[in-house]
Amino acid sequence: MELKKMVGYKAAEFVEEGMVVGLGTGSTAYYMVEALGKRIKEEGLTITGVTTSSRTSEHAQSVGIPLKDIDEVEKIDVTIDGADEISADYQGIKGGGGALLFEKIVASYSDKVIWIVDESKLVDKLGAFPLPVEVVSFGSGQLLRLFEKKGYRPTLRTDEDGQTYQTDSGNYIIDLEMNEITNPHQLGEWLDGLTGVVEHGLFLDCVHTVIVGYEDGPEVKDVR
Ligand code: 5RP
Repeated sequence: MELKKMVGYKAAEFVEEGMVVGLGTGSTAYYMVEALGKRIKEEGLTITGVTTSSRTSEHAQSVGIPLKDIDEVEKIDVTIDGADEISADYQGIKGGGGALLFEKIVASYSDKVIWIVDESKLVDKLGAFPLPVEVVSFGSGQLLRLFEKKGYRPTLRTDEDGQTYQTDSGNYIIDLEMNEITNPHQLGEWLDGLTGVVEHGLFLDCVHTVIVGYEDGPEVKDVR
């Protein structure tokens, strides 16, 4: 079985009757949504989904997962999402799929956060994967210059038609080629303090369980 499918289906086993479930975005989270749809049909599982993107909303609806807006639920019991990179101390980069803002909001109102990845996403230190930074369009050129001066080799993300990529909130994404992020907390705080930055893809101290897909099966690591 494909590793992404393996961990997506494994993670769906963690969902219990009556739970409010945060549904992540991306090609790995896709399988978790598919698996939950199957459990609803085959076991009569009753859950409520809170999605992290319009893409995931469409998919979840198509497989029969009842959805609520994040503001309609008291809290989220568990959120299951993919990641672009996970370091040896379980910090993460997310946002390769452009959904980092909603993903971080949903994760921060969740009792438990599970990341599902194939083994290729595990790294010693973060930074080989370009760090996504979501910015408002106004002044985004100034932020590009600032990142350039810092040596972060920024790129304004474009879509498949070569147009500037827009997030579900209508913002832009600047991807930073950091190579190695020596102090993720310091970098995260600096980015948080920049006017015009809406959110960044450093997901720090937020994951509880990581499910890693290896050729010989999934490994569940409880990390906090
Ligand atoms: C989307 C994300 C995804 O979780 C991340 O990009 C991993 O995606 P995939 O499972 O397709 O490799 O953060 O914003």
